[in-house]
Amino acid sequence: MKRRKFLYLAAAASITPLLAQCNRRRSSLPLKSFPRFSSTSGLLDLSLTAQHSTDIKIGKQFAKRMTYNGHSPGPILEVQAGDTIRLTMANELGEPTNLHYHGLHISPEIDNVFREVSSGEAYTYEFQIPSNHPAVTGWYHPHYHLKVASQIFNGLAGPLIVRGKLDEIPEVQQAKEEVLVLQDFEPNFPDDEALSTLAKRWGREGSIQLVNGQQNPIIDLPQNGLLRLRLINASASRIYQLKLLEHPWFLIATDRGAIAEPQEIETLLLSPGERADLLIPGQIEPGDYGLLSLPYDRGLAEMIQGIGNHAKQVPGVALPAETTIATLRYVEGNRTSPLPLPKALIPVDRLPNPSTTREFLLNHGIDTTAGSNSFIINGQSFVMDRVNTQVQLNQVEDWHIINKASVDHPFHLHTNRFQVIERNGKPEPLLAWKDTVSVGGYESVKIRVRFEDYTGRTVYHCHILDHEDQGMMGIVEIV
Ligand code: C2O
Ligand code: CU
Ligand code: CU
Repeated sequence: MKRRKFLYLAAAASITPLLAQCNRRRSSLPLKSFPRFSSTSGLLDLSLTAQHSTDIKIGKQFAKRMTYNGHSPGPILEVQAGDTIRLTMANELGEPTNLHYHGLHISPEIDNVFREVSSGEAYTYEFQIPSNHPAVTGWYHPHYHLKVASQIFNGLAGPLIVRGKLDEIPEVQQAKEEVLVLQDFEPNFPDDEALSTLAKRWGREGSIQLVNGQQNPIIDLPQNGLLRLRLINASASRIYQLKLLEHPWFLIATDRGAIAEPQEIETLLLSPGERADLLIPGQIEPGDYGLLSLPYDRGLAEMIQGIGNHAKQVPGVALPAETTIATLRYVEGNRTSPLPLPKALIPVDRLPNPSTTREFLLNHGIDTTAGSNSFIINGQSFVMDRVNTQVQLNQVEDWHIINKASVDHPFHLHTNRFQVIERNGKPEPLLAWKDTVSVGGYESVKIRVRFEDYTGRTVYHCHILDHEDQGMMGIVEIV
């Protein structure tokens, strides 16, 4: 561990001055507004076409991306708890795809990642969001096994907002709200077949960090007001370590909804799949404040050191570098007195003690029953139709996730939310509802989950999507 940290600091020190200059030169544009579909009288009825678009503007260049209705990220879908979504997805990608509703507590029969929507076909997903569903920042993305990393890396992902009690808290209601989808991008990226084994093992990253498809957009922060940011890490593999430079910010919600009260934070670690809602009070010296993505080493430093300068030339392997991903700019608001932060949000009840405890060992190795796959959980790589774990409806379980490898593996469970109980044997200070948690190299995390409302087969997997495609996924059957 010590060695890793040292290498990363050394690398950061040599890269930083150069990048600071680039950032200053880069002209920033205001954050573009996003296409949005909102439900009316309890129904959100829409069509999305998954397609190739060649005219996506990134900086001064036009890029080829996979899009929903010509947009990457895809349109914002916005509903209230209790609403029905009727979504027809047409597939014009020339390869199979499907949709997953990451962050929703709905039946795995609907949110079915084993479904194939073939090229040239359309499929209609129709479901009701439970009326007691918490207010969440969720997202939709493809989940067709073996294509997940490439389709998401190519741009397929969009926000899915469920509004509820959190949104009715007066101070939250008065906040100005922005959804920020974090993606990374690499121009002239090779086709999947041509991508190096190294990039696939590591998990592909692009060197350009985008917020809603833009580089370092300007986000207005109303003076005396509150800005609410909904952050979604929709990158295939990149783990972000974020810092709002010289400005306070407060966490109000994690993956599956609100925490009990706003919590001031320093940095925010957001691994692929994770979301966070923040409140930023526009109540210090007006000016520009950078949202920085700090260099974060997810276990690659030693590998990069080993291959030296060649790492720079391997597409999909991005060196850790500091980047300003957005700039918050004070603008005059219509308030003369500061809007306070809400004192309380939504209580989070601690789940009761578990009736069963299980271990999940994440590792790299060979599972002969699964062919050539080399990413394993409890010795097994993902095989279609093989149930790895069976659990009982309404039972509470502790899952001890132990990372035996040197690289980080963000662990994600579908359908049900969980609470993080312990990290490396120490109690987790923040009680929060999660569906994805990063487990660092050689670290362990204990999560507690109650399997609620739905029976059926669902999945858990590493949200570094190349790892998932290479087998770091399992099926849990709820009976
Ligand atoms: Cu974000 Cu299995 O998904
Ligand atoms: Cu998911
Ligand atoms: Cu992984």
